[in-house]
Amino acid sequence: MLLEVENLKISYGDIEAVSGVSFALEQGELVSIIGANGAGKTSILNALMGIVPVNEGRISFQGRQITRWPAFRRARAGMRMVPERARTFARLTVYENLMVGVYKLRNKVDLGRRLQWLYKMFPILEKRKNQPANTMSGGEQQQLAIARALISDPDLLLVDEVSMGLMPKLVDEVFDLLKRLNRQQGLTILLVEQNAVASLEISDRAYVLETGNLACQGSAAELSQDPRVREVYLGH
Ligand SMILES: Nc1ncnc2c1ncn2[C@@H]1O[C@H](COP(=O)(O)OP(=O)(O)OP(=O)(O)O)[C@@H](O)[C@H]1O
Ligand SMILES: [Mg+2]
Repeated sequence: MLLEVENLKISYGDIEAVSGVSFALEQGELVSIIGANGAGKTSILNALMGIVPVNEGRISFQGRQITRWPAFRRARAGMRMVPERARTFARLTVYENLMVGVYKLRNKVDLGRRLQWLYKMFPILEKRKNQPANTMSGGEQQQLAIARALISDPDLLLVDEVSMGLMPKLVDEVFDLLKRLNRQQGLTILLVEQNAVASLEISDRAYVLETGNLACQGSAAELSQDPRVREVYLGH
């Protein structure tokens, strides 16, 4: 297993946001955690990245216990996150935003190659590379946030509600891109989403998170057929 999470508990003062959640990802999988507002999705990703502390439970990555590791060590080990609402640095150019993501690159040659690859994957970023990030549309900034997370060639990409605020066509585009990264580049991706329809479409497996607990799990095909999932998350 690339990532193994056991009995994860996360609290903010008296509020328990995540109450003992276990899940795992194998190398090369694309897995979703689906859940409504406040279910605990962002808390889980932040705990994986080392941004919020874990109350109880264990996280292992690449076979190592990382539960108490600081964020920078997890990043160095190859974990990256695309945060909620795709925060970019507004006044930095697109290119400068990408450079912020550079961490643990072997040498300049690699960086040049990586940039070329990214520009091929995200043509709009090359066109806009010298513009401030805040002149980009929401969807373009979302692409920039993904590209920034990819520039250092991560082993695991954590993606927080990438569909939020995007029109349906752009949601499809971003999800297609994630699917391609997974299928063609072998990138392991953990997606957290309210958009169950779009995420089940591209995922191998999914977990359903309800107020800090996993309600069910299965292959994307199984969950799409599950009557309860259909009623609550797929709207039919
Ligand atoms: N810093 C914090 N302090 C106190 N409570 C918090 C904090 N962050 C999150 N919470 C609470 O923890 C619960 C889970 O929040 P979280 O942001 O993880 O949910 P989410 O599934 O990402 O929701 P959304 O879909 O709205 O982004 C919520 O009840 C939220 O109010
Ligand atoms: Mg969230």
